[in-house]
Amino acid sequence: MAASAAYRIAVFASGGGSNLQALMDRMRAGDLPADLAFVLSNNSNSPALGKARASGAPAYHVSALSEGGEDRAEARMVDLLRDHRADLLVLAGYMKPVPSGVLALMKNRVVNIHPALLPAFGGRGFYGHKVHEGVVARGCQFSGPTTHMVNDRYDEGQILLQRVVPVPPGSAADAVGAAVLQQEHAWFWQVIRAFAAGAIKPLPGDEPGRAVDASAFWAGLAKQP
Ligand code: GRF
Repeated sequence: MAASAAYRIAVFASGGGSNLQALMDRMRAGDLPADLAFVLSNNSNSPALGKARASGAPAYHVSALSEGGEDRAEARMVDLLRDHRADLLVLAGYMKPVPSGVLALMKNRVVNIHPALLPAFGGRGFYGHKVHEGVVARGCQFSGPTTHMVNDRYDEGQILLQRVVPVPPGSAADAVGAAVLQQEHAWFWQVIRAFAAGAIKPLPGDEPGRAVDASAFWAGLAKQP
């Protein structure tokens, strides 16, 4: 009997790639049973591309500039996802909206990590450091990452998992960002593993106001020593 094919993950990233690195480390350690299909960045200088290449994964710079227009960039993304037979598209610090053709191809198979407790501090304008500046300016006592499905409404897809990070009074935005990022690295791979195994399921219909079924995921965590 043929061995079952490995689950194949494509990652889009724009920046430093620390989440990508955390995922690659877990794949290499065997904690996340999946193959990195390829990494794509809209930013030719993204360290994420270098991290992917260093690990032997294909890495592509794809942007409207590199391809000669938004439509061509979208077509290239679709081709890459097809050619590399990606089962899941992971957005790990990807700063651009995902084109509709990509969402159609990967329906219910695109996940993102956002560095705040959505729906607070999400949507257009809330990215990178601005998220943590917003949390501090508003005097929030807690923040934390949200992993969620991606649809055509920015940061509004069904929530998969959130983790809470305390924000002590007087915290600097940088410190909040570092604490949240640590939780992202600790949890993103677990969400992806559970998603791949069907232990976290998005609901059909894609209504943002509804909760995903994550009961199997939580039951699995409760059994851990
Ligand atoms: C993370 O904070 C993530 O939540 C957000 O972008 C940041 C990416 O960081 N979407 P890195 O490139 O993975 O280091």
